[in-house]
Amino acid sequence: MQRIILDVDTGLDDAVAIILAAGSPSIHIEGLVATSGNVGLERTLENTLNVCEVVGIEAPVYRGSSQPLVRDKVDAGDFHGESGLDGPVFQPRRRQQVQEGSGIQFIIDTIMANPHEITLVPVGPLTDIAVAMQREPRIISRVKEIVLMGGSFVGGNVTKEAEFNTYADPEAAQIVFTSGAPLVMFPLDCTTKVTLSPEQLERYHTFTGESARLFCSCMDSYMANYQRKGKGHPAMHDPLCIAYLIDPKPFLFERHEVSVELEDAPTYGKTLKGKETETGGVLVAKKGDTTHFWSLIDQALLSLR
Ligand code: RIB
Ligand code: CA
Repeated sequence: MQRIILDVDTGLDDAVAIILAAGSPSIHIEGLVATSGNVGLERTLENTLNVCEVVGIEAPVYRGSSQPLVRDKVDAGDFHGESGLDGPVFQPRRRQQVQEGSGIQFIIDTIMANPHEITLVPVGPLTDIAVAMQREPRIISRVKEIVLMGGSFVGGNVTKEAEFNTYADPEAAQIVFTSGAPLVMFPLDCTTKVTLSPEQLERYHTFTGESARLFCSCMDSYMANYQRKGKGHPAMHDPLCIAYLIDPKPFLFERHEVSVELEDAPTYGKTLKGKETETGGVLVAKKGDTTHFWSLIDQALLSLR
């Protein structure tokens, strides 16, 4: 059983990561922390609570950071819509409400109380993870693994050079990538190869249940936003982290030192990789298996209400 804490900036692909985690018997969600990213914190929090309510997740949802460590705040609303989760219309929630207290403290307390048991899955800017490491450095050696979506070694998606999650908080990304924690990184190199086709989406519209309807409503928006921007088929960035935790075998990896450009230049927020190494560094995903990924989504949607 993979015991995870999801740190999300719920957006449309974050929602798929949450749905996949909830619908996979080998994953136990200890809690979720909503952070500022695709859109502002209050919206990512609302989106996260709403997705958890529809899917039937009873794990606690906390507030994370509302601002990056140093830079000015940026958002990715043009891929996810003004609300950050364009498409679904939600009923007033009956169960899920935000937990009092700090999401960063929840991350620290859960890892310290369960050494080598908890996997952190950040799929937005890395602000919360960096602050947690600074506040309690012992989590670096006690966390089981940190499996993150972010960075790119093949060019950016928010600037020519930088991927959104590292660009939104480069200083936080630098702290995490150079922390020495056991990191598994899903950069654009890997995530842009796993996409949703219109034919696949049409097939998912035949699935029944609230979770499948939520998935389709999110993906209808995601598909439309990608096509409006002439970016082809939407990429399954965030849920690939969950697919790895369910079954790492289909993925190809290399191990490298990774750092982040912090100079005030067009490369700000770009991730850089050092030479390949046998130990230390970061396990960098190079390739996944699209067919296998969609079989996991099928299983999750069929198992959820
Ligand atoms: O670059 C892709 C990442 O930025 C994904 O996590 C997406 O949700 C956005 O946050
Ligand atoms: Ca995200």
